Amino acid sequence: MAYYHPKPAPGRHFLQIPGPTNVPDRVLRAIDNPTMDHRSPDFGAMVKALLEKIRLVFRTAGPVVIYPASGTGAWEAALTNTLSPGDRALMCETGWFATLWKEMADRLGIASEFIATDWRRGADVAAIEARLREDKAHAIKAVCVVHNETSTGATSRIDEVRRAIDAARHPALLMVDTISSLASIDYRHDAWGVDVTVAGSQKGLMLPPGLSFNAVSDKALKASETARLPRSFWDWKAMLAANATGYFPYTPSTNLLYGLDAAADMLLEEGLENVFARHDRLAEATRRAVRAWGLEIQCAEPRHFSSSLTAVRVPEGHSANALRATILERFNMSLGNGLGRLNDRVFRIGHLGDLGDLQLMGTLSGVEMGLRAAGVPHQPGGVQAALDYLSGNA
Ligand SMILES: Cc1ncc(COP(=O)(O)O)c(C=O)c1O
Repeated sequence: MAYYHPKPAPGRHFLQIPGPTNVPDRVLRAIDNPTMDHRSPDFGAMVKALLEKIRLVFRTAGPVVIYPASGTGAWEAALTNTLSPGDRALMCETGWFATLWKEMADRLGIASEFIATDWRRGADVAAIEARLREDKAHAIKAVCVVHNETSTGATSRIDEVRRAIDAARHPALLMVDTISSLASIDYRHDAWGVDVTVAGSQKGLMLPPGLSFNAVSDKALKASETARLPRSFWDWKAMLAANATGYFPYTPSTNLLYGLDAAADMLLEEGLENVFARHDRLAEATRRAVRAWGLEIQCAEPRHFSSSLTAVRVPEGHSANALRATILERFNMSLGNGLGRLNDRVFRIGHLGDLGDLQLMGTLSGVEMGLRAAGVPHQPGGVQAALDYLSGNA
């Protein structure tokens, strides 16, 4: 039963929003240890080992900074550590979260430019390259892309964005939000030449909300030496100096760090490639169910289908919010709502984090029963289509 649920509901709540995700028992048990002195020798030793381990998840040999904050804080850290007032940033309007990041940049005094999409695909790589080629004076200091747009279920091709920046011979920093892709969808900070990777704890990392991350390249570190946007809490310099001996410049989220240690062990024991393949497979099963129901997937570009969530459009004249309310009430399952312009138009099925075949089948059963109960026009057989796929591929 949920911790706060005014009406007792039997059975386990299905938390199938695209983050926060289900926290595995092993991580919960790790968090459920006595809080320790964050200036003690034991704590320093634990953090030093953890900082090494977490690099493997980001696939970087460089530093990863951990903040006691939600993902939004790590967005701000990425921008304020590298840019100065009036600097230009090229951003890509993939959906709601890209829009929030741009609004933050504007509020911080960054001159951001937005490359539009229709919220049905990932970043427009050709448009990025064209804009950078045009920028002969190199006024653009950063290209910012959301890897997996959680509002639409579209994943941008960061390898292609890197190639576009290189083809234009442009020196801009590349900053990537991996809040709903890290540890779910293939991602390579070093190999793709990313300068700042932004991440959060509550999705693929299988933790509660409350930690966020910046993986930082040498080029970004160098930029931080001259960047003039005001920063204090987010400053990499103080953080990296303290991290060198396993400590933090302020009180860290001690118990969430225990959880992170356990989560990193789980991911590395499963193997990142296997983690990505598991997500790909569950996502494909979900899409087969959606197609069998005769419903439309919000992401219209198959190369950009997300492996961590699927946003599903409801037919005209029907309410995605009413459907979600029915599913919560009748079947004790939470699905993601439509954000911004997609409010009431889509519902989002999260299939990331600590998830196996049977949990996905329960989730899809809840959706199919909900479609019927809420009177949303659909064909039956989505659950069967997913089941056929998963059993054939098991
Ligand atoms: C892609 C993406 N970026 C940024 C955020 C904001 O992160 P937070 O809510 O942890 O501050 C989210 C949250 O869902 C997200 O999915």
